[in-house]
Amino acid sequence: APGAQRFIPPGADTIDELRAASGGCQGCELYRDATQTVFGRGDESARVVLVGEQPGDMEDQKGLPFVGPAGRLLRKAVDDAGLDPAQIYLTNAVKHFRFEVRGKRRIHQTPDRMHITACRPWLVAEFARLDPEIVVVLGATAAKALLGPTFRVTKQRGELLPWPASAQHPEDFTQVPVDSAGRVADAPQARLLATIHPSAVLRADDQDKAYEGLVTDLTVAARALA
Ligand code: URA
Ligand code: SF4
Repeated sequence: APGAQRFIPPGADTIDELRAASGGCQGCELYRDATQTVFGRGDESARVVLVGEQPGDMEDQKGLPFVGPAGRLLRKAVDDAGLDPAQIYLTNAVKHFRFEVRGKRRIHQTPDRMHITACRPWLVAEFARLDPEIVVVLGATAAKALLGPTFRVTKQRGELLPWPASAQHPEDFTQVPVDSAGRVADAPQARLLATIHPSAVLRADDQDKAYEGLVTDLTVAARALA
């Protein structure tokens, strides 16, 4: 069967064990052209988890999430919002870089629904081992992975939402929440907040305004921490 599920060892209790196993994932075709799996990083007891789209060119080479231009902007926005960077865990909805080669350049391609679905078991497995108070969904791809295909970031950004039970099932949004190891993934205290992706700030006509919007949304998350 396609998808990441069969690459997740049921006995992997920690994020480090998951990360190690993710290096061998062949759950979709993206592993073939990318350099390496880029798994989530950060404090395992993080109060805030940020979910992006997929690694970019730089992340693919370094093996770390959010270390390129979008990552730099995101880290600045996190700081400006008053969130403690030491209390954050950063990950992506899709763990391999999807790109198209044009000449000597590798051009980012948005992951398809198929890649999001295939990679979703890793994200669900991460959440089963984390215990955040707030989950920040960055952009449409992460929103599709956690909130389903009908959620619109532009309409509901900046709102604190209850953690959707459907976000916890590895494959099927309509099923009871269990993680990829068959455990009930229990994160009922977590609330969720969607905002734009830092790359959208870099592409915006009015970058200052877009950046301000991102910081405003992240400030809502910061204030929601007890
Ligand atoms: N964009 C993302 O969504 N994630 C990264 O890790 C880098 C850029
Ligand atoms: Fe596995 Fe996700 Fe990479 Fe596809 S993108 S090979 S599902 S880790």
